[in-house]
Amino acid sequence: RSSDGARVFELAAAEGSTQFLPDRPTPTWGYNGSYLGPTLRATRGEKVRIAVVNRLPEATSVHWHGMHLPAGMDGGPHQMVAPGGTWTPEWVVNQPAATLWYHPHPHGATEQQVNRGLAGLFLVEDPEAAPDGLPRDYGRDDFPVVVQDRNFAKDGSFHDGPRALTGLTGNSILVNGTWNPHLAVSTEAVRLRLLNASSARSYSFGFDDGRGFAVVASDGGLLAAPAAVDRVLLSPGERAEVVVRFAPGERVELRSFPHELGMTTALANGAGGNDTLSILQFRAAARLSPSPELPAALPGPGAPDLSAIAATRTFILNGRHINGRQLDHNRIDTVVGAGTTEIWNVSNTHNQPHNFHIHDVRFRILDIDGAPPPPELAGLKDTVFLPVRASARLAVPFGNYTDAAMPYMYHCHLLWHEDEGMMGQFTVV
Ligand code: C2O
Ligand code: CU
Ligand code: CU
Repeated sequence: RSSDGARVFELAAAEGSTQFLPDRPTPTWGYNGSYLGPTLRATRGEKVRIAVVNRLPEATSVHWHGMHLPAGMDGGPHQMVAPGGTWTPEWVVNQPAATLWYHPHPHGATEQQVNRGLAGLFLVEDPEAAPDGLPRDYGRDDFPVVVQDRNFAKDGSFHDGPRALTGLTGNSILVNGTWNPHLAVSTEAVRLRLLNASSARSYSFGFDDGRGFAVVASDGGLLAAPAAVDRVLLSPGERAEVVVRFAPGERVELRSFPHELGMTTALANGAGGNDTLSILQFRAAARLSPSPELPAALPGPGAPDLSAIAATRTFILNGRHINGRQLDHNRIDTVVGAGTTEIWNVSNTHNQPHNFHIHDVRFRILDIDGAPPPPELAGLKDTVFLPVRASARLAVPFGNYTDAAMPYMYHCHLLWHEDEGMMGQFTVV
């Protein structure tokens, strides 16, 4: 903590080496370590200040994905940090408790830098709005599950093989930077903060024995009620918090399952559509500490307020373009009014899957292909998955940080697509 009361963090990006495989080290990049970065935690209402130090041999930036903050603090391609340089953004955390994350955002090199290991979680906490009955003892009954797919070459290095149409995919799964992971469970109920930190692959997560679980939060915070499911689908960048119950002594596996991307089998293979990957094995202790039942209601939002819609816009995703255009740093594509709500119709008219992420905001999905979203997608979101030819109608409330000269970004969060220019810029005025 500094004298002005800010919570101070340092994130130093550097090269290193990580032992994933038993016999061969892998050259990697990380923040404050050799792979991934620390979980940053801040409380709603608190000021944070983060010294981002670049010890890499190339320029980078650090974007706070899901965070509401001034555009100049956002860490997108307009806030590059040169090798040897330091960048120190600060802002007051003011948004609901949520599982956010941070990752590089240098235009054209995001996929490579994330793939080498640069990413971490950023938890916003709000003790005043934490419901009883929801596990929240971090590291005991509340765990991060950061999921990435990689390929290893014979020498142990990451092999960036030929790209699928969606980007880099791999057939080895890392969870929180661990290959072949398991988790020892000591409580009856466990909260998992799932982050799809992969470049291109979407995962339909579920358990090998088909057990149900509850989704309690989406990208931007808690839902209004737990949603009972047996699968949860996350495309790159999306998060879900789930609560699952275990019996004493059980061995259960979190897996990915095949899901519909709207592609032919061959194309879907490269995007995760036909997966049955083992993600994480749970080993429950012979005696488990009791956990309460989940509350019936959570502090998430009710129906979105559509009483004053300032504008309706359309975003067509096709090829590597949004509305026929690719990123131009010198062009503002969209100007929105501070504190207004707009309807954004986002359509994937392409024969490949995409998703759509908007910086700074938490939007609501009003419908997907004309139908209301399933309960687990009805809360606060910052990224929406759009399989082939899918459309979503979003209600997007914009914040009050104005800056006519500094844009926020919206883009496809398949990192290679983003690097290829499938990105636009908006300002809030
Ligand atoms: Cu996760 Cu523009 O970012
Ligand atoms: Cu973002
Ligand atoms: Cu895309």
